[in-house]
Amino acid sequence: FQIKFARQTCNIYCNFSLRCEIASKNFARKLIFSHKVLIGEIMLTGRHVIEPGSLTIQEIDEICGLAEQMIVDPAAFSDVCRGKILATLFFEPSTRTRLSFEAAMQRLGGSVIGFSDASATSTSKGESLADTIRVVSSYADIIAMRSPKEGAAYLASKYSSIPVINAGDGGHHHPTQTLTDLVTIRAMKGSWSGHTVGFCGDLKFGRTVHSLTKALTRYPNNKFIFISPKELSIPEYIINQVFIPAGIEFKQVERLEDCIEELDILYMTRVQKERFFNEQDYIRLKDSYILDKEKMKMAKENMIVLHPLPRVNEIAPEVDDDPRAAYFKQVKYGMFARMALIAKLTGSL
Ligand code: CP
Repeated sequence: FQIKFARQTCNIYCNFSLRCEIASKNFARKLIFSHKVLIGEIMLTGRHVIEPGSLTIQEIDEICGLAEQMIVDPAAFSDVCRGKILATLFFEPSTRTRLSFEAAMQRLGGSVIGFSDASATSTSKGESLADTIRVVSSYADIIAMRSPKEGAAYLASKYSSIPVINAGDGGHHHPTQTLTDLVTIRAMKGSWSGHTVGFCGDLKFGRTVHSLTKALTRYPNNKFIFISPKELSIPEYIINQVFIPAGIEFKQVERLEDCIEELDILYMTRVQKERFFNEQDYIRLKDSYILDKEKMKMAKENMIVLHPLPRVNEIAPEVDDDPRAAYFKQVKYGMFARMALIAKLTGSL
């Protein structure tokens, strides 16, 4: 009888504790579910982001929406990447992108490994990118990588077992700058549609321009004005592959003064010395455009000025105090955009 009683008591207890466990798991699931409703439904775990087209417009909306929530309440996300590691592999100089990626991961509660000087790594001994990526995949949960070579991030993604984010590949693409720009545009203009957008400066080598034009052509009623010297005009392949087939309105001009009054958004860019083969060409073209107070007088009251930075001479410091100058806000939003992207790709949210 004692044994029978002990067995029954034990069964009742086990049943009770099992029920408790299930109940607590269900409760936890409900909490997680309600959190997911709050932060969005689309799962992006394990995905690579190589160019803006790596993400659908719904996914971009979800990431930017999450970034907006992080801007409002950063403390709510301070632990979501606890135990996760970001590797920043920078084969080309950077201030904003690398530091904002690193700050982003730390603000999510994760940690960071990486390098900003490839000459101090085994790349200098001849190790291939493929091998470097295979090795880093064993140490980290996500990679942010910058290279002077077009296509390097795509190549890395082929050898990586963890998500690879392109943090800029030569004159090709810079998708997290685009997320930064989109968060800024929505914060300041309310939407991604119906704008006349002027891109000014080095449109040939400017990867931020290539990525943002590609992203903004996916939203209705945007018009594009490309302002550059002929030698630095937007590549033909972008016009032929993106603008012509979709019948998107655009024009190309050489003088900023000829179109600044039409613009809702002016995206200034630096003439990039590091992309020129011939220094004489760089010297001739470097000061093609200088946005100053006089030119700002010709612009709309609600036009915003964006710049991916760094700037050299193309925006005079006197413009910085103009309420339409949004480039330092853009820098801050970039960190939140990267926080949102990291949280999504690591499956943390
Ligand atoms: N906007 C940008 O890519 O800046 P950095 O080169 O400093 O990262």
